[in-house]
Amino acid sequence: MGNVKPKGHEGKSQGPGVSSRKDYDPGVVHAEKSLPEDERDRSLRPQNLKEFLGQAVLKENLGIFIAAAQERKESLDHLFLIGPPGLGKTTLAQVVAHELGADFKVTSAPALDKPKDLAGILTTITDKTVFFIDEIHRLKPAMEEMLYIAMEDYELDWIIGQGPSARTIRIPIPSFTLVGATTKAGNVSSPLVSRFGISCRFSFYEQEDMEAIIRRSAGILKISIDDEAASLLAKSSRGTPRVANRLLRRMRDFAQVLGGPALASITPEVVQEGLTRLEIDPLGLEQYDREILRIIIERYRGGPVGAETLAISVGEAVDTLEDYYEPYLIQSGLLQRTPRGRMVTDRAYEHLKIAKPLTQDKDETNGFLF
Ligand SMILES: Nc1ncnc2c1ncn2[C@@H]1O[C@H](COP(=O)(O)OP(=O)(O)OP(=O)(O)O)[C@@H](O)[C@H]1O
Ligand SMILES: [Mg+2]
Repeated sequence: MGNVKPKGHEGKSQGPGVSSRKDYDPGVVHAEKSLPEDERDRSLRPQNLKEFLGQAVLKENLGIFIAAAQERKESLDHLFLIGPPGLGKTTLAQVVAHELGADFKVTSAPALDKPKDLAGILTTITDKTVFFIDEIHRLKPAMEEMLYIAMEDYELDWIIGQGPSARTIRIPIPSFTLVGATTKAGNVSSPLVSRFGISCRFSFYEQEDMEAIIRRSAGILKISIDDEAASLLAKSSRGTPRVANRLLRRMRDFAQVLGGPALASITPEVVQEGLTRLEIDPLGLEQYDREILRIIIERYRGGPVGAETLAISVGEAVDTLEDYYEPYLIQSGLLQRTPRGRMVTDRAYEHLKIAKPLTQDKDETNGFLF
């Protein structure tokens, strides 16, 4: 299959919001949101599957699919990555490119405004490129339709001319692997989902994987941390590598300033003190997480309360509430999503040390009516 490159594209900018592995600049990709600290520090990003810790099942399967594709000298099938923020979707996409020895291109759906933005990328990729689209649930319909043909036939439908003389031509493009990442799988259209051959759902990391990630990051950042401190920190990192890396840096700050230069090592005492100062509790909840639970309890009698209403009450966008805060609260068994809305669990009352009022149902079964 030929690689058609429109004239004049060579050496030019690669269009809006896209960057390749060599000049990877997350600032271009996520121009609309401020960058988390660890996104800026690329040294912590695992480069290959071996360094990518945890997510054992997902990783093992992926390793097999990569080896098989390489043996057949084909591009890897399109890959769909689903999971809450900070669990390693972008990292894994980069790792896949590295394992395949392929180029890596990265963009996000909101940066793809017009078909020509997408066409500009797809006509300039090299064979077997791993093309990563973040937040794929935000892709516009026109771009989605263009992707269907690109994903299935490695061709682009391109309209030339205008009005009655307009016609469509098909432009062949190199075979590539689309990696689509989303925090909201339910918002991705089913025709698009069905075109991904491999689907990976990330789960929050286990305690021992979190400990390993913390030790690895500490090694790279040349921070000394003992096992007990790593274990404590892992427990408060919400099963999320991004949070672990962020907390590790904060603990380094505390160790350095509070412990004095001679004591710049992270001990369990430093972690305890640091977490208290950051108002992070033993479950890894921050003040804001507790606030969400407290509002449901105090204003909505524990729920159910609709997501929109709750978002307004806590002063947050629904998306942020659903993508960032809720998954961990649900995972921790503190919050439930029900058809009627969000409800706190008994565990939430216990955790916040708030006495649970007797509900009407209970009153009834307690014999008030009988
Ligand atoms: N499996 C892993 N092992 C070690 N470190 C990891 C792993 N996964 C992620 N990390 C670290 O966590 C950071 C966040 O990961 P990443 O940016 O890939 O998350 P993401 O899922 O793409 O998040 P978002 O949805 O916000 O884009 C990375 O910079 C990396 O250092
Ligand atoms: Mg990402």
